[in-house]
Amino acid sequence: MPYGGAFMAKYRIGVLPGDGVGVDVVEATMIVLKKVGLDAEYVYGDIGWEFWCKEGDALPQRAIDLIKRMDATLFGAITSKPVKAAEAELVPELKGKGLVYRSPIVRMRQLFDLYICLRPCKAYPGNPLNFREGLNLVVFRENTEDLYSGVEFNTVPKELADVLLKLSKPFAAFKDVPLDEYAISCKINTKKGSERIIRAAFDFTRKFGRKKVTVVHKANVVRATDGLFLETAKEIAKSYPEIKMDDANIDAMTMWLLKNPFNYDVLVAPNLYGDIISDLCAQMVGGLGFGCSGNIGEKIAVFEPTHGSAPKYAGQYKVNPIATILAAKMMLDWLGEDDKAMAIENATASVIAQGKVRTYDMGGAASTIDMANAIAQSLK
Ligand code: IPM
Ligand code: MG
Repeated sequence: MPYGGAFMAKYRIGVLPGDGVGVDVVEATMIVLKKVGLDAEYVYGDIGWEFWCKEGDALPQRAIDLIKRMDATLFGAITSKPVKAAEAELVPELKGKGLVYRSPIVRMRQLFDLYICLRPCKAYPGNPLNFREGLNLVVFRENTEDLYSGVEFNTVPKELADVLLKLSKPFAAFKDVPLDEYAISCKINTKKGSERIIRAAFDFTRKFGRKKVTVVHKANVVRATDGLFLETAKEIAKSYPEIKMDDANIDAMTMWLLKNPFNYDVLVAPNLYGDIISDLCAQMVGGLGFGCSGNIGEKIAVFEPTHGSAPKYAGQYKVNPIATILAAKMMLDWLGEDDKAMAIENATASVIAQGKVRTYDMGGAASTIDMANAIAQSLK
């Protein structure tokens, strides 16, 4: 064995707290991860609003390199602002250089081809925020394409308008609109992108003995892209005869989910509908303080809470860290550390069930760190 080998930890875990409450919840989650005794070296990296303002990039190259080297990465949250508001906060030297702010988390997903966004939404017994006890939904959200493709024009190039007029009949309705008075965002969905997320949803359903996959779309109106997604799903479903598949339009889906939540099991959706439906599902099991998320590719994965950076609560140690603690649990699942993952989940569930330690969203006065300590102490 080469000298030094004995000192190597089993895993290298990237830790990117980001900004806002991302810092609070990651600090809390590290208490739990350290207590569970994962054999890991934790490597912290620079990412977040501060780096946008100072360097013009919220996801600096060194953070990208770090994620590539790690076995998995835990990410907190990052502030996102619209293009003009973001430009206004750049240091003077960087203003007017044409730097355009794009959400770092979306960039990360695309750059590393983290095509699965996995969002389990489980109602832990005794959580006063549960919409219904017993809910256990899982969202598979396509994570790299669709309306998130980034192919957008806020002044439409004339060449593009000319081609569209030639190729698309409905485009005639816009032919007299001045080019700087409309915008185009492209919804791009590929067969490969659709196939792999749908397969991931079916494989998961099979592996965990679940019963049904519901495909969320708007294929009655958005016929090309959502039609492709739905048809692909119908094709793939044939190789999983023991699993029931149904589908629903995104608008109807939001109603049905509230009306008959127990009719649903695993949901799969293109990127934007998955974004929408996963917030709804998170709210049904306690809100964003409980929504955890895995961005998963073939070899690289980044785990995060579904919530954002909530700058108004930054540094107050007020928000609920459970979403991030459950994201760390997902990370352990992904690494194959099943026992440790289960230990974190059981400890979290028992603290929720006891109801003694509750953060403000749950009606209590416990801090972010109190909650993490309680979960760490309940680990078996
Ligand atoms: C999410 C968030 C992100 C998204 C934002 C922060 C860009 O809402 O992870 O669901 O839209 O994907
Ligand atoms: Mg979202």
